[in-house]
Amino acid sequence: FIPKQIELIEVGPRDGLQNEPIAIPTEKKKELIAKLAKLGFSRIETTAFVHPKWIPQMSDSDEIAYYCNELGITYIALTPNLKALDRAIEAKVPQIAVFIGASSTFNKKNINKTTAESLMECKPLFAKAKDHHLFVRAYISMAFSCPFQGEVSFEEVQTVCDEFIHLGADEIDIGDTNGQADPKIVYERFSRLRYCYPDTTFVGHFHDTRKMALANTIAAIQAGITKFDSSVGGLGGCPYSPGATGNVATEELVDMLSRMGCETGINYEEVKKVSEFAKGLSSRL
Ligand code: HMG
Ligand code: MG
Repeated sequence: FIPKQIELIEVGPRDGLQNEPIAIPTEKKKELIAKLAKLGFSRIETTAFVHPKWIPQMSDSDEIAYYCNELGITYIALTPNLKALDRAIEAKVPQIAVFIGASSTFNKKNINKTTAESLMECKPLFAKAKDHHLFVRAYISMAFSCPFQGEVSFEEVQTVCDEFIHLGADEIDIGDTNGQADPKIVYERFSRLRYCYPDTTFVGHFHDTRKMALANTIAAIQAGITKFDSSVGGLGGCPYSPGATGNVATEELVDMLSRMGCETGINYEEVKKVSEFAKGLSSRL
């Protein structure tokens, strides 16, 4: 089964660039965001209000947010804690994203708290975000496997999912953060999630570490998922996930889906050009 339409959420400026070891000038990031905005994405994840010591590449988040406001685009910014949320509210961000690892070891390395501690911290965060009428995207990272603990069980994913839904997440983003999932587990996990939570909107977030991200997308579509994150040029990687490579490349997804008659609203030739520009920003390619 192939749906008529898929929403692609471009995460290149955030997930794509966060792992770049050399500071990319803010002006270049703005140029990338402007080019992406012209392509017609419904939403772009543009920055993260994280600690600059932890993720130096995102230290210009205020300036990026102000620029996105000027452009008038719908964008998402990561807010891992209350301090981040306050910064995002101050910057007038329209959509925020929280992220919790289903694997506690990873969560501790990534945001310095166990999964249980992060879930506790989410309560006041969601309450405040809702008070400010913000759309809340909630990521479950390492939702299939983890570089530190190995296999991640469905129950571990469910623990985080239950709480996110209870707190009122507007969408839940299932991340194959280290790119180790295969189409079988993707199909099974998304089918089960859709069965357990029929009223919840899920998003697929695949990394292409083992070149299975396109196959995993098709598997998730078969399980009924119609929203996916991707990154132009396949840039990306989480600094706290050793060996994890880029997100699925937006241009590859657009090419595959349009050949199958599935509308994404994005033109392949145009996105290819932006992908070349994005790759030029990376010091690792
Ligand atoms: P922490 O060090 O535990 O924070 O960092 P703390 O609460 O102990 O506070 C220590 C100091 O940091 C204090 O300052 C705070 O004010 C300050 P001091 O009093 O010492 O002067 N502080 C902050 N400053 C700026 N912005 C903030 C902030 N919070 C506290 N938001 C924190 C905790 C969450 C901030 C840190 O661990 C962090 O920034 N982590 C970011 C990790 C990250 O961005 N990882 C990559 C994204 S996740 C990912 O890639 C996966 C995903 O793509 C999904 C997938 O691929 O599957 C989403
Ligand atoms: Mg990611």
